[in-house]
Amino acid sequence: MLREDIVESLLGKTTQKKKSRIPAKLDFLQSATGLILAIFIILHLLFESSILLGKDSMYALTKMFELDFFIKGGSSIFISILAFIIFAIFIFHAFLAMRKFPNSYREYLRLKTHAKLMKHKDTNLWIIQITTGFMLFFLGSIHLYIVLTEPQNIGPFASSDRIYSDTFYPLYFMLLISVVLHAGVGVYRLIMKWGWFDGKNPKENRVKTRKIVKAITIFYLVLGLFSLMAYIKIGYDHQKHYGERYTPNMEIKNEN
Ligand code: HEM
Repeated sequence: MLREDIVESLLGKTTQKKKSRIPAKLDFLQSATGLILAIFIILHLLFESSILLGKDSMYALTKMFELDFFIKGGSSIFISILAFIIFAIFIFHAFLAMRKFPNSYREYLRLKTHAKLMKHKDTNLWIIQITTGFMLFFLGSIHLYIVLTEPQNIGPFASSDRIYSDTFYPLYFMLLISVVLHAGVGVYRLIMKWGWFDGKNPKENRVKTRKIVKAITIFYLVLGLFSLMAYIKIGYDHQKHYGERYTPNMEIKNEN
């Protein structure tokens, strides 16, 4: 049973009024923007983990995003442009998702009780998705605003200084957990909704899909946590040189 059906049956509403095509269109747009953002996050966390291969790797990737192969030395304006596009999709996706939030606290409580009584896995997943989605409104916006307005402050030292010395690690920790769970549950629900991998045996394939999405979600959580720890370690070692920018092959002048 879909979440909308549950809410409607709980509230005694009926869908058999006027048939409008708008909800279906909005639903499609929500799925499409969600998919774009999920693909972006999958790639983003992989690129971000380049720090695990060393500072030179992360530096080279940052320069690539500044299009240094196109403009001599690169320009951080390209990072701002990308951040602006992602921010616009993020806001539009959140706006569309607002339709699906419970309209009142009472509705939310009824839904929670219902999920508990039924032990309905998909309803529980939906609760994870609105909770993490709500957190992303704030955490995602802070992060996106910073990369949009300070694109020059991205790099092995600049990012690590922000994470350690500017105390951004609690924010990134919460952002990582919420975005990975949100994207994992979101992609799983998309696959179920549109029946992408149903094949000839939907029941069996859905169980398999669930396991695969769960494994990928755990992989990304672990990868993100290791990357975050690498940034914290570099930031800790670099704290006395806060503000200094990284250049390839340079050594940290560790005075500790
Ligand atoms: C074009 C847009 C984006 C850019 C340029 C960008 C860039 C970055 C950079 C450079 C970092 C390293 C830390 C830092 O320098 O502050 C980072 C970390 C992170 N970003 Fe983004 N980001 C973007 C969009 C997003 C979005 C939309 C999300 C999720 C809503 C997100 C989630 C994260 C997370 C969870 C981390 C921590 C990574 C980890 O623990 O490995 N980012 N991002």
